[in-house]
Amino acid sequence: MTASASQSKKLYIETVGCQMNLLDSELVVASLRRQGYELVDVPKRADVILFNTCSVRQHAEDKIYSALGRLKHLKRRFPNKIIGVLGCMAQKDQGLIFQRAPYVDLVVGPGQLHRVPELIRQIEQGSGPKLEVSLDRTAGSRQQVAESFVSYDPLRDPQMRPTPYQAFVRIMIGCDKFCTYCIVPKVRGPEQSRPPEHILAEVRQLAQEGCREVTLLGQTVNSYKYRQGERSVRLSDLLEMIHPVQGIDRIKFVTNFPLDMTQDLLEAVRDLPKVSHYLHVPAQSGSNRVLKRMKRGYTVEQYREMLQRIYETVPQAAVTSDFIVGFCGETEEDFQQSVELVRWGRFKNSYIFKYSPRPGTKAYELYPDDVPEEVKRRRNNELLEVQNQISLELNEQFIGQEVEVLVEGPSKMAQKHADSTTGPIQLCGRTMCDRIVVFEGNLRQVGQILPVRIYDATPHTLLGMVVTHHVGPELYVLR
Ligand code: SAH
Ligand code: SF4
Ligand code: F3S
Repeated sequence: MTASASQSKKLYIETVGCQMNLLDSELVVASLRRQGYELVDVPKRADVILFNTCSVRQHAEDKIYSALGRLKHLKRRFPNKIIGVLGCMAQKDQGLIFQRAPYVDLVVGPGQLHRVPELIRQIEQGSGPKLEVSLDRTAGSRQQVAESFVSYDPLRDPQMRPTPYQAFVRIMIGCDKFCTYCIVPKVRGPEQSRPPEHILAEVRQLAQEGCREVTLLGQTVNSYKYRQGERSVRLSDLLEMIHPVQGIDRIKFVTNFPLDMTQDLLEAVRDLPKVSHYLHVPAQSGSNRVLKRMKRGYTVEQYREMLQRIYETVPQAAVTSDFIVGFCGETEEDFQQSVELVRWGRFKNSYIFKYSPRPGTKAYELYPDDVPEEVKRRRNNELLEVQNQISLELNEQFIGQEVEVLVEGPSKMAQKHADSTTGPIQLCGRTMCDRIVVFEGNLRQVGQILPVRIYDATPHTLLGMVVTHHVGPELYVLR
């Protein structure tokens, strides 16, 4: 059913959370556009207002509930507007969302997103509120629960991708690690890998549409395993399968689980030239006591050994990590061990989070949230400062070097002062190892891979100038 152009319906969507959610939103928007919807950038102008939500920390949920709160009056004045809550918080809070915001029409978990267009249609026809979620992890056999989480991978719509040159590709859904602090296994369901042929077909299609870089997504992407008769296809095999696809120049993958960082994968990263040397492998803590309570399944010694293996196999690797500070029972000594690991690990970057207790997790049940907020804040800042110094030192090593940058678009600064579409403009892009580079260029360079010489660095950005001489005629062919 396609609405006629004159009465095309308007859609507004707001997304929080991880790359998985960005991809889900892209796909939901694409499917609604096929039904005739058109995107608008304020809720006031929209017929359908969607929030794709995250439950990983309390703050992410608070943001959505207050955004919903702000819509109360709008909905009173325009009762036909449809308000929907999608994603992880929908799966976690389910009917509670209707209680807290009775004017919400639609609640859909991440395993049921394929039903969104149909549910909106039913609401338009007067069905009343709709709730569509997957089974709770204890509500049935593994197979029943897994079947209720459907990987949402409809055909891609090239117009909907944030940039036409880059795309996320889901290779698996869910998580089976059950780290005690984490809500993801509950809201995203059992780990399930997509068949390699489906992934390959999607990458081929993306390449045909002009995409040059794919980022393979999974909560524990390196646990990817798809059984085909006698043999299992691992992430390293998948990389090998995708590598020959013409048009694709870069392949990235996130997020890695430390214990699954196997040698075959590191060798694939080393040997396949299109595969980025960027590896996000969260440590979470540098203290064995804390790691044990988090149920991460490794000791800090094992994590260090894994890091060493990475640097031995892929010497140019840019490794990044996540850390949680102020987890239940974390002492000053435990925290200092995280500081030590950051110093020792020489991560390109670390994302640092203050522990946020999540109802529905083991940690919430078992341990009191006993580190005061101001201590969490101080530890967060201290760890960040140590990391920033390292990030700066690592970035400074690039000064004077030439790097290859896939140009993504105007830099944040240029976007703020956007009036020139023809003259020189500040552009940004990324190196093969995921470093952000800012340089002066021209909008028609977006989507090209350009040689850039670096002349300055901050902890998170390299500043450079496009190199005009040609290093090798075939290397920088303009597309
Ligand atoms: N699947 C990925 C990322 C999961 S969520 C992984 O396994 O690493 C992203 C990050 O959020 C986690 O790495 C962790 O550092 C953080 N996180 C998860 N639960 C949290 C919580 N309850 N409080 C604070 N940070 C949390
Ligand atoms: Fe959460 Fe741990 Fe799974 Fe990552 S591996 S999604 S932190 S449970
Ligand atoms: Fe958040 Fe769900 Fe991603 S909880 S981090 S949006 S998997």
